Amino acid sequence: MNVLLLSPGYPAEMPEFARGLAEVGASVIGVGDQPAERLPERTRRALAAYLRVHSLFDEQRSVAELRAALGGRRIDRVESLWEPLMLLAARLREALGVPGLGVAATVPFRDKEAMKQTLDAAGIRTPRHVAAGSVAACWDAAERIGFPVILKPIAGAGSADTWRCDDADELRGVLPRIAHVPVVSVEEFVDGEEYTFDTVTIDGAVQYYNVAWYRPRPLIARSNEWISPQVIALREPDAAELAGGVAMGFAVLRALGFETGFTHMEWYRKADGEVVFGEIGARPPGAHQVDQMNYACDFDVFREWGRAVTAHRFEARIERRYNVATVYKRAQGQGTIRAIAGLEELYRRHGAAIVWNNLLPIGAPRRNWRQTLVSDGFVLVRHPDLATTLAIADEIGTRVQLYAR
Ligand SMILES: Nc1ncnc2c1ncn2[C@@H]1O[C@H](COP(=O)(O)OP(=O)(O)OP(=O)(O)O)[C@@H](O)[C@H]1O
Ligand SMILES: [Mg+2]
Repeated sequence: MNVLLLSPGYPAEMPEFARGLAEVGASVIGVGDQPAERLPERTRRALAAYLRVHSLFDEQRSVAELRAALGGRRIDRVESLWEPLMLLAARLREALGVPGLGVAATVPFRDKEAMKQTLDAAGIRTPRHVAAGSVAACWDAAERIGFPVILKPIAGAGSADTWRCDDADELRGVLPRIAHVPVVSVEEFVDGEEYTFDTVTIDGAVQYYNVAWYRPRPLIARSNEWISPQVIALREPDAAELAGGVAMGFAVLRALGFETGFTHMEWYRKADGEVVFGEIGARPPGAHQVDQMNYACDFDVFREWGRAVTAHRFEARIERRYNVATVYKRAQGQGTIRAIAGLEELYRRHGAAIVWNNLLPIGAPRRNWRQTLVSDGFVLVRHPDLATTLAIADEIGTRVQLYAR
């Protein structure tokens, strides 16, 4: 099996996906725009070859360059697990005659209006929404939908440029800040808890799913630096209060005609129990939430994904033994990490539950918490009992502190 893997070195999980493919016997051909020497060591070990293009973001040119570089060599799969490259992957499949999602099937995963329109047609509850291409259209949409509203780009990721407006004054303040976005999706603001529904799917049949709970909701977490955001992979995704979201997840994959690979959906549960669709990507979640799945089940879902896309099999036994909490930290102060407080006590109290300390070391420069949920690193804990998991996660949030100067 010859598999083209787009951007095999970035984001951080990609070396693991490259490894997963190689371990199930695929010949992995990496495609990227960085020099081969700069690929992470683990990626280099997994690759059979590396094809360098001028820029992954120039789709037409990349397709032409790759067609020439491959010179008729047979390609069996084209895989991309990074949101900005989903359409390039689709174009390459079409250009090289490779099975998998083409451009038309990929657009509803990329374009948030096309996504909601397709799901509306399938009877799935989406937030009320209007696509607006001008300031006047935004005002019109807000009036029709009613405040509070959410404004976001139709092709967003990482919550960049997503704004909540509670009234006309707030909308007036936000409009200039999104003037660079050509088309925005204006949505009904849905109040509630926010969850994921993540799957590995083969020919439309879900093989494995994961439900994670965001504490607090991502928009709040990314608007307040003092918060240590938590993502909790739940040990019991079949609990009654999650059933509506899981059922919606299955229905969404059917409605969008997803075939094979990883998916990552977000959904809301309102206080009255109503379940509302958020968004979906034809790719895994980021911020090490795939690693989190591995810690929840003690399996290797990177390798099972590789097996799913190459051999159409998922072989690992799914036994959810733990709730897993990832607690992302943001240092106080700017510049370089100078001190970390509370870690020793944390290990003394909960050492057995801590499976990964990924905090930046002393001496490292801070990361931009607005650009990456990972922020200044994270601590990952797991425990069979949810209340215990949440209590430890909250301790990490409040008692572990990084200081920068
Ligand atoms: N209609 C809505 N009602 C309530 N909250 C919303 C709504 N739309 C978006 N949000 C909030 O904004 C966040 C970001 O929105 P969304 O997930 O659509 O954008 P994104 O840029 O793809 O983000 P990410 O890549 O971080 O998932 C959501 O996780 C949610 O907290
Ligand atoms: Mg989102």
